[in-house]
Amino acid sequence: MNTSDFIFQSKDKKADNLTVTWQTPSNIALVKYWGKSEPQIPKNASVSFTLNNCHTTTKIEFTKRDVLMASELQADFELFFEGKKKDDFKPKIAKFFERVKEYCPYILEYSMVISSENSFPHSSGIASSASGMSAIAMCLMSLEKELNPNITKEFINQKASFLARLGSGSASRSIEGPIVVWGSHSEIEGSSDLFGIKFPYKIHPIFDNYQDTILLVDKDEKQVSSTVGHNLMHNHPYAENRFTQANENLEEISKILQNGDIKAFINLVESEALTLHAMMLTSNPYFILMKPNTLEIINRIWEYRQENNSNICFTLDAGANVHVLYPNSEKTEIESFIKNDLAAYCQKNHYICDSVGFGARPM
Ligand code: DP6
Repeated sequence: MNTSDFIFQSKDKKADNLTVTWQTPSNIALVKYWGKSEPQIPKNASVSFTLNNCHTTTKIEFTKRDVLMASELQADFELFFEGKKKDDFKPKIAKFFERVKEYCPYILEYSMVISSENSFPHSSGIASSASGMSAIAMCLMSLEKELNPNITKEFINQKASFLARLGSGSASRSIEGPIVVWGSHSEIEGSSDLFGIKFPYKIHPIFDNYQDTILLVDKDEKQVSSTVGHNLMHNHPYAENRFTQANENLEEISKILQNGDIKAFINLVESEALTLHAMMLTSNPYFILMKPNTLEIINRIWEYRQENNSNICFTLDAGANVHVLYPNSEKTEIESFIKNDLAAYCQKNHYICDSVGFGARPM
């Protein structure tokens, strides 16, 4: 598929007013996307677990608008977040519509009222751009399906991921599940820089219903926005080696996901998380995004793993929160370790229990 394959062509059918609602999840990267070029093209391939409980639900009411020269217009929309008008989110969404109108020119023929809510607390330090952008993308594809009923489910998912990527790179990985690869890679059949694909090989059952408990160490707004963060990789002294390493890690984790080598999984996933933070420590300007409790938790996880011969491990986003990953078969004992030990390092003892999920759902 090329970029031009995503340009809407059909002119036959008209759609009147339409209201659609989609729920799409967040995701957690195992091999990280960090560094991109225009337009939202990743410097390396990445892979993530799609989550289940952390999601955004978005309703869009499309109302026909009187337009003479649609091509000269900007998207017309209003935005409500958790019931309240949210004008400070508008610029990011406006930029998204500017980028996607080339592929979805029909959006200019409607006034859109977008109402969104997250299942996770807004101030939890959990990025909502992946679930937020993918939910809007799915709503646009529902309108497109009305205008062109011939499009297949496969095309809908692919184009939704393509559109979501233009809003936020990691959002391309939030349409499907349980494991999604985004970024072209010679060893992953069908992979593309333009959209995410479902991991195309058979996944070992040890990864079924894999658990992710998110420890909320720091609930503040992100200290480094993703735009600033990705830009740090321009002229970064270790950038090229990092992109090579990430692609090698992707090849390696592809094997691990198929053969179930859990010790190799733990090693690779933790190394990826620490490397992401190492990139921030060694950029200029430089950032320390971990907090003292992030390190306490990592050390406690390592002790627990050693003492109990456990398969618990961690990964990190570009922030202080810790994602604790473990097989479903170890859920009972690890949940009690989290409750009795790790929770104390979280802000107000807050953490969120999640697990691997299957992607976007119509509501
Ligand atoms: C550290 O997808 O938030 O979570 O494309 O600028 O919106 P933009 O960036 P974003 O970056 C995510 C970075 C990460 C790693 C990952 O999810 O792969």
